[in-house]
Amino acid sequence: MKDLLQKAQSSLAEAKQKWINPGKLSWTQELLEASLYVMQGGKGARPALLYWSALSSLKKKLSKEEGQVFENLILDPSLAIEMIHVYSLVHDDLPAMDNDDYRRGRLTLHKKFNDAFAILAGDSLLTGAFEVLAGSQASDSTKTLLIRELARAAGGSGMIAGQLWDIEAEKKLVEDLDVWTRIHDAKTGALFGASLSMGYLLGVEASHEKIDFDKLEKIRIWGIRLGRLFQIVDDRLDKGPFYKKLGEQKLNELCQKEASTLLLQARELWVSPKGIEEILDFFVNRKE
Ligand code: IPE
Ligand code: IPE
Ligand code: MG
Ligand code: MG
Repeated sequence: MKDLLQKAQSSLAEAKQKWINPGKLSWTQELLEASLYVMQGGKGARPALLYWSALSSLKKKLSKEEGQVFENLILDPSLAIEMIHVYSLVHDDLPAMDNDDYRRGRLTLHKKFNDAFAILAGDSLLTGAFEVLAGSQASDSTKTLLIRELARAAGGSGMIAGQLWDIEAEKKLVEDLDVWTRIHDAKTGALFGASLSMGYLLGVEASHEKIDFDKLEKIRIWGIRLGRLFQIVDDRLDKGPFYKKLGEQKLNELCQKEASTLLLQARELWVSPKGIEEILDFFVNRKE
């Protein structure tokens, strides 16, 4: 996983460099600077998963040239998914939502500037993600599917719905763990699902194969479940509802059980899910 995260960071850096190429991008300077400010310092978990899924979905060994095409293919979609994630964090930290002053160890955007600017910078990242995706190297038909995967995950049946339910549930001090699971699946799982499904589409494109739509859906659902595990671990770190209700030991057992199920399913979905044990281990034992 360490290698994957490093790879994600270098892909993000390369994609960002390509994106801010002054000859190409006409963004207002302050919005661009704000975007680059908030995009620093994350783990890059979603781009890492996208890359892993793309690699694991390759149907053949690529030649050197094909390998280069593949590396270029994943750049813009990796950046797009990170832009959506980061925009969600900018808005999540606003006073009207979680009211946080720090993110990734630095001042949140609304603290550094003001609320209106943070809202608009978030908006520009959200729309910018689709600009980046639409300009990616994938074929038009794959691009349409990538845009659909990302839009659906980020939108009113996915991440935004999850954010809405999360605020309501926190206000009402909801304790029902099934309700929290539904929230987690939407709030965090949806974007994890899209990272995996987009990776699959890119792997299939790079191998010149046909898309198996049944598999696409199964991979998306697997990603949502991985996001669920990610959130249970978040709950353990923040001592949230799962921690309060189950206690540490039962919560740890639940994480191990989820990881075992994910491992079994991954072996059915991918021919050789290389490094999957290490990935799951990272998600179960992460400390940040
Ligand atoms: C934090 O996500 C927000 C949630 C979905 C809980 P990450 O833990 O992936 O945040 P960064 O990108 O590493 O900062
Ligand atoms: C972050 O969620 C935003 C999204 C998942 C969309 P949280 O509010 O649970 O996470 P932190 O604690 O701010 O990172
Ligand atoms: Mg929140
Ligand atoms: Mg928050």
